[in-house]
Amino acid sequence: MKELQRLMDRGNEFLGTKVPIMCGAMTWISDVDLVKAVNDAGAFGILAGGNMPPEFLENAIDSLKKTEKSFGLNLITIAPNYKEHLRIACKKEVS
Ligand SMILES: Cc1cc2nc3c(=O)[nH]c(=O)nc-3n(C[C@H](O)[C@H](O)[C@H](O)COP(=O)(O)O)c2cc1C
Repeated sequence: MKELQRLMDRGNEFLGTKVPIMCGAMTWISDVDLVKAVNDAGAFGILAGGNMPPEFLENAIDSLKKTEKSFGLNLITIAPNYKEHLRIACKKEVS
């Protein structure tokens, strides 16, 4: 039990969460609303950006950054817009 708590604490510290649970990115499902809901529940939401039009991705990142909660960004390296997505993620300093 003590070991489990130690691992939970470590996960929370790493993710900046209350519960060390990540919601895997799901294209067209893991949008801003889902990421916010997961984060509000104390877990770690991941924005599925790989299939988003670039301007949509930019707005989604801005919206999530305003919440000041940790979130992940998932991109797809074989997506047609990958280089533009990566440029946006770097510009917006998504860590
Ligand atoms: C509808 C749907 C869309 C998904 N889209 C992505 C995606 O865009 N990028 C990605 O890395 N994984 C994607 N996945 C994979 C999930 O993030 C996750 O890795 C997978 O469902 C396994 O989850 P589990 O480890 O909880 O079993 C998708 C899964 C589903 C069901």
